[in-house]
Amino acid sequence: MSQDKPKAYVNTIGCQMNVYDSQILAGLLQNAGYEQTHDPDLADLVLCNTCAIRHKAQEKAYSFLGRFAGTRIKGDRPLTIMAGCVAQKEKEKAFIRLPHLDLVLGTQAFGRFETHLNALAAGETRIVDTGPSENIFEGFPKDAPINPLPGKQVSRFVTIMQGCENFCTYCVVPYVRGKEKSRDPFAIVEEIKGLAASGVREITLLGQNVNSYAGNNGKVCFADLLHLVSRVDGIERIRFATSHPKDLSQDLIQAMKDIGKVCNHLHLPVQSGSDEVLKRMNRKYDRDTYFTRISALRQACPDIALSTDIIVGFPGESVSDFQQTMNLLETVEFDAVFAFSYSARSFTPAAKFSDQLDEQTKRDRLNELLDFQEKITEKKNKAFVGKKVTVLVEGDSPKPRDGFVKKNKNTRQMFGRSDANKIVHFATDKAAIGDLVTLEIINAYPHSLWGEVCESD
Ligand code: 5AD
Ligand code: SF4
Repeated sequence: MSQDKPKAYVNTIGCQMNVYDSQILAGLLQNAGYEQTHDPDLADLVLCNTCAIRHKAQEKAYSFLGRFAGTRIKGDRPLTIMAGCVAQKEKEKAFIRLPHLDLVLGTQAFGRFETHLNALAAGETRIVDTGPSENIFEGFPKDAPINPLPGKQVSRFVTIMQGCENFCTYCVVPYVRGKEKSRDPFAIVEEIKGLAASGVREITLLGQNVNSYAGNNGKVCFADLLHLVSRVDGIERIRFATSHPKDLSQDLIQAMKDIGKVCNHLHLPVQSGSDEVLKRMNRKYDRDTYFTRISALRQACPDIALSTDIIVGFPGESVSDFQQTMNLLETVEFDAVFAFSYSARSFTPAAKFSDQLDEQTKRDRLNELLDFQEKITEKKNKAFVGKKVTVLVEGDSPKPRDGFVKKNKNTRQMFGRSDANKIVHFATDKAAIGDLVTLEIINAYPHSLWGEVCESD
């Protein structure tokens, strides 16, 4: 009688941790009797899991939820829920712009979501829960969380930590996600076993600062956790994000070298190449320390792929500070860079710094940096031409690429991710999602590679 079930639409804005949290919320909605719909206009309940990291992400949440103020196609408007970081940050203020909101569900309120759903069903409205939680991992899956996306997924996220206490001066996360808490290692491994049993082959362990993981009352460090996860049968690859340069220990570098399943890629946000700016960002390392950590990493894992986050236009960033960031990119040669224009956020110290830059300067610097990095990324990608890489096949490529030739009626263009996190497209009449396929790289583009299946495979 599935057509009688009320329908829920879950929209996710923001980082990988939000994608994971949305799976939990979708699971709780399923327990409450909802089935998922991929059409918000048909939904009886619309939930937006929001991101507060930059002004633009917050605006996106407001604008999405604003759409449901009116009447939906079927009749009454749906129950409308704002969850996650913007909910935590805005609290009752969310009603000023969205008077039709039924529930504002903060980042620590997931364990109470079911109670609030019951209250909504009983006719209550305008509920705000941004209170704390004794056990923030309450409501987390005991085995495999439900898959909110259609199709088979071979790669899934697993949250191992919540919160952050680093208080970088630009960042709202410590204010909306609370204190750092590590999840029980046994619960993490149990969940991953469940995912492996359902066909998942790759796990990305998530936290704001995974290097400072201290599970089981501090007895299990992050390197230990990597060893535990690597023993789960069926899991072929392990990735993790995000790492803070100040906590990148020799133990972790050793674990990355020793554990074959840990991918040869590290995301290590540097944010700026200027010591002056790093100090005012409260990053607790300087440029030289960053270079030293990268050298140690490259010594242990010679071909490691590196990616980073950069903020341009931090208050007081001079032309010379910006040049130091460009110089750092030139020196390190990252495989990928995620660059953002500084966005002033409520509660954060940097929002009150007097020397804010104008939007045009920030935009110009961002564009200059992205153009510069694109050439480096392309150069790094070109270095793969002629090499063999093994990819974990994730699915069919969204559109045909140069080099795609249909050899027979079964030929499909598929894509997978290499150990170094490169997306590789290839033609195949044999490969299936979840296979590990060895490819020779024939061509390189700014954002992907093209490979040919090695015949011995
Ligand atoms: N403005 C711009 N970018 C930010 N980030 C965090 N806070 C801000 C902000 N206020 C970026 C950082 C972080 C990434 C997730 O988002 O680079 O690593
Ligand atoms: Fe934000 Fe800094 Fe914590 Fe990362 S480490 S979440 S940038 S406060």
